[in-house]
Amino acid sequence: MKRTSLLLLMTLLTLGCKEEKPAQTETEMTDRNWWKEKVLYQIYPQSFKDTNGDGFGDFQGVIEKLDYLESLGIGMVWMNPFFESPLVDNGYDVSDYRAIHPRYGTMEDFETMLSGMKERDIRFVLDVVVNHSSDQHPWFKEASSSRESKYFDYYHWWPAEKGEPPYRHSLFDPEGGWDYVEAVDAYYLHTFAEQQPDLNWENPELRQEVYDIMKFWAEKGVDGFRMDAFQFASKDTTYPEFPEGHEKEFIKWYGMRPQLHEYLKEMYKEVIEPYEVFAVAEGAGSTLQDAHDLVDADREELQTAYHFEYVDMARTPESFKLSEFKEVFSKWDSAFAKEGWLAVFLSNHDNARLVNRFGNPSPEFRRVSTQMLNTFLLSMRGTPYTYYGDELGMTNIDMPTIEEYVDIDAIGKYKTAQKAGEDMDAFMQVLNYSSRENSRTPMQWDTTAHAGFTDGTPWKQVNENYKEINVAVQEGDPNSVLNHFRNMTRLRNENEVLIYGDYQMILDDHQQIYAYTRTLNADKMLVILNFSDKQAEAALPDGLKTGKVLINNYQTLPFHDDSSLKLQPYQALIVQLK
Ligand code: GLC
Ligand code: CA
Repeated sequence: MKRTSLLLLMTLLTLGCKEEKPAQTETEMTDRNWWKEKVLYQIYPQSFKDTNGDGFGDFQGVIEKLDYLESLGIGMVWMNPFFESPLVDNGYDVSDYRAIHPRYGTMEDFETMLSGMKERDIRFVLDVVVNHSSDQHPWFKEASSSRESKYFDYYHWWPAEKGEPPYRHSLFDPEGGWDYVEAVDAYYLHTFAEQQPDLNWENPELRQEVYDIMKFWAEKGVDGFRMDAFQFASKDTTYPEFPEGHEKEFIKWYGMRPQLHEYLKEMYKEVIEPYEVFAVAEGAGSTLQDAHDLVDADREELQTAYHFEYVDMARTPESFKLSEFKEVFSKWDSAFAKEGWLAVFLSNHDNARLVNRFGNPSPEFRRVSTQMLNTFLLSMRGTPYTYYGDELGMTNIDMPTIEEYVDIDAIGKYKTAQKAGEDMDAFMQVLNYSSRENSRTPMQWDTTAHAGFTDGTPWKQVNENYKEINVAVQEGDPNSVLNHFRNMTRLRNENEVLIYGDYQMILDDHQQIYAYTRTLNADKMLVILNFSDKQAEAALPDGLKTGKVLINNYQTLPFHDDSSLKLQPYQALIVQLK
């Protein structure tokens, strides 16, 4: 079988009579940047590797795994927050932006880790959580003790003499986004939990504090900044009430005010330009124009951003629709084809596992479907953001009851649903599938106890499938998800067409297949992905029929003698076109 297919392909290769020269594209190569080219790998530090047996991952653990990181072919690491924090939101509540939380190690450990990365040509992206601080930050402690304090104006307040503040929705707090502090007789605003008061970006002194923090880390050698929850940083300070029925316009209503752009320009001049670093925003506004206004190079604001449109759309297995997926990614690509640059991501610490959401976690299809998704991620235009464990196909865990959850987001959502009188069984089913706790379980290194993550008791249960899904087992298997990931990063790193090449979708209306070409001058690649658990057939358009197969997650080739395709379930191919 294999032999025949191969022969057929060879025939296609050699007899391919239509020797069409791909058209020259207009892709401008003048604005190349390393942060467009390197693949980003996200590390959730408490779950990566523990070296002192306390059950939490630490910097020494990352240091131990530097060679592993290098072997992945990634070029930058974004690490979630590791600063001093009461850990109400696992570090997204910072009480000292210049200090390391002791559970991760010391500043010296951080520096050793950073220089180990630099030696391997891996850059480092710091998570900057400055839409809000912790309520335990000295600024907030001062602010909430006296209206006379200069720090009072570092936060957003509604003085009680104005009466009760207008209702404000909070993303984490079912009681809403204002909390009362008696000592100052005022309510402070928090978009997230009550322990995460929002910082007041309208105050120039506060902004200067933020730039100083960024400079502190840039001087240590950090190469980039991921701006957490940044769309909310600038607010309408009349704090208008959120109108019912506009839930989907949350960002438009609560964030992205025009003055945000002034602040970003200021940040650019203060930090980004002089230190030659880059900044990526979490979120890209609510329209394509918003996103352009944030990232277009001539605006000198942010350098890149990642949008949530698709990741937010498909929250349950039933809601995944390939047609929408194709439409959303094609729309964003074409909007940024000439100007601006985005990241492409499908999973991170705020979402369930990649394979559960967009692939197929069943033992039969787990491997191939994860490989197919990684082929997508690493062959699109835009910087690929990969989340630790997705290079192995790590899966969701099963947590059917609320008592098992530790995450403030899950618990907050549960309370909100309860308050609204929702069907709580149905709610738990959705939570079990979509909760971000699914993706925070310890990294699966090998088949030993706790997957080799720790000698102690892990802070969070290890997925029980760790004996099948782990680095050690996959290292030795050339067809593993891990080695496929490496093949993909190598291919991308070696072929500029996969980075800068124009994107063009083909077979637009196909119900199972997502296919597109990438073209840069004379180089042209064809990516063909079967997103379904069934075989899929299609006829390739003329001009795309012959080429060399560079990536294939099956042993068999899908070509018929008439050069139409018959793909296996979740088959993924990259063909270098002739
Ligand atoms: C961002 C982070 C998320 C965190 C929230 C509040 O969305 O990615 O993990 O809970 O901001 O800081
Ligand atoms: Ca530890």
